[in-house]
Amino acid sequence: MCGIVGYFGEEDAIKHVMEGLRRLEYRGYDSAGISYHDAKQKDLLVFKETGRLDNLARLLPPDESRVAIGHTRWATHGRVTKANAHPHVSHDGRFIVVHNGIIENHKALAGTYLEDVPRRSATDTEIIADLLGSFVGDGDVLTALRRVLGLLEGSYALLVMDREHPGTIYAAKRKSPLLVGRKGRETIIASDMTALCAVAAEYTALTDGSIVTIDEEGLSLHDHEGELVRPEFVPVDKAYAETDKGVFDHYMLKEIHEQPAVLRRIIDQYCEDEESRIPKDVAAMFQGIERLHILAAGTSMHAGLVGKVLFEKLARIPTEVHIASEFAHHPPLLAEGSLFLLISQSGETADLRSSLEIIKERGFPSLILTNVKTSTLAREADAYLEIFAGPEIAVASTKAYTAQIAVLAVLAHAVGEGGISLRKEVALAAQAIENHLQDRHIYADLVDRHLKKPQAFYIGRGLDHAVAREAALKLKEISYIHTEGFAAGELKHGTIALIEDQVPVIAIVTEEKTAAHTRSAIAEVESRGADVVVIAMAHVAEEGDHIIIDTINPLLTPLVSVIPAQLIAYHAALARGKDIDKPRNLAKSVTVE
Ligand code: AGP
Repeated sequence: MCGIVGYFGEEDAIKHVMEGLRRLEYRGYDSAGISYHDAKQKDLLVFKETGRLDNLARLLPPDESRVAIGHTRWATHGRVTKANAHPHVSHDGRFIVVHNGIIENHKALAGTYLEDVPRRSATDTEIIADLLGSFVGDGDVLTALRRVLGLLEGSYALLVMDREHPGTIYAAKRKSPLLVGRKGRETIIASDMTALCAVAAEYTALTDGSIVTIDEEGLSLHDHEGELVRPEFVPVDKAYAETDKGVFDHYMLKEIHEQPAVLRRIIDQYCEDEESRIPKDVAAMFQGIERLHILAAGTSMHAGLVGKVLFEKLARIPTEVHIASEFAHHPPLLAEGSLFLLISQSGETADLRSSLEIIKERGFPSLILTNVKTSTLAREADAYLEIFAGPEIAVASTKAYTAQIAVLAVLAHAVGEGGISLRKEVALAAQAIENHLQDRHIYADLVDRHLKKPQAFYIGRGLDHAVAREAALKLKEISYIHTEGFAAGELKHGTIALIEDQVPVIAIVTEEKTAAHTRSAIAEVESRGADVVVIAMAHVAEEGDHIIIDTINPLLTPLVSVIPAQLIAYHAALARGKDIDKPRNLAKSVTVE
């Protein structure tokens, strides 16, 4: 989704903003822009362009500046055009604005306050610049900005520059994240830690309603009541600075290979021998609950499907899984004694934030599992647990999925009756992944032979069904092959009509109890011409199966059975020449509903 970077300091602001925007590329974007103070021309210059950052970089003169703001846009209002790219300039030319989020009442505001001002773009952002231009009159900018912010409905993180005070950056936020970092006399503002940490030694996360002013005098922070407050800075987590691909061609492949290390890190963090190190206040949230509700989106929701099984089997807690975007608008009947467990890699997903508002309004407790402890949801939920996956850059989530499942297992085990040596079982899963990654060379050929059609199916039962759904999402989102994940027994109730010659059906078979039934479904599709690929766990494998993975604890099989699916997706996208780390239309952190 959109990204924001601003810099004020003694080094070249243009360089730092462009570098920050590059670090945000992984979030997904379709156009970019920058504004900076040009001391020679004594003016604020604005450059923007559609497409990749390189297109913008080519437009920039060889200037240096001490103050700049920049933006990468992921279109929500208006097509991908130069006019719709940020920064937006007010109708009087005075204010320059970059914005993340959505202003829901932009049309109503334009009708009320800007009837005579022609719209120059199709965006909701332009209205912010225009309102500032109209309201400021002879008054001060902060007063005008407060008035504008008071009228906005929706979400925003924004940076503003003013041609009359070209050495000043104003920053404000509501619902969308905005972090202010500093090192000595340098200040960097960004919507994401990844962009901040190359410069900043410490940072503060702005709270909703606050406004920051950065100029020669330094940094001043006003809270939501307009009171001048002292910002509290904490050290930057330098893990976010390491964003190179290492020896791998793509972040996705690197992140697939990091999974054994991530699982080991999780057990080191959360398991002391056989004792759980889940914080006591988090474990206490589960005491006496009648029902657990898991809320998440996309891959995180698929991890939640595995979580349901873990909580029901290991902790005997009835568990429901909800798609966050549905829950936010159609919450089910909720009984007393419910606990809400949100899962979000980024901790910024707008659908979850809306769901959390409902949960809080109704007085239910909430816990979030996230990879980003500085995220908005980590702050807004009652408690958080970190999944320790390390920065995940590829849009297609891989190591966050297995990390989420491992932490769900640790948590369910901690609040349940135990019974298994989780430390040992997760360690065996890590070893099984490592073993399978040695076989990576088989995938290019396998994909070449079996994934020729523009559609495919994954099937499985129980936990294998949960993985089939994640496997299908992975394949479709980066290779653009239309893929669906089905319960193996459900195919014959309709979807089997789609099976014809050479259609790939990838079956996941890890569960002893249902292996024979899944084999029947395989026979059914095979007899209708499907090109079947079987991923089997060693203890249920048969002669002729294509991919064999090591047998591990039956409750943890998704940790290993998803690995072939991740590799199939990667190689299918590679063979098709797709942009693996930045698939079309997708964003890493989905901050709009
Ligand atoms: C998965 O590969 C996707 N990138 C997507 O489904 C993602 O899992 C979803 O948008 C949820 O994001 P979150 O975990 O950051 O909340």
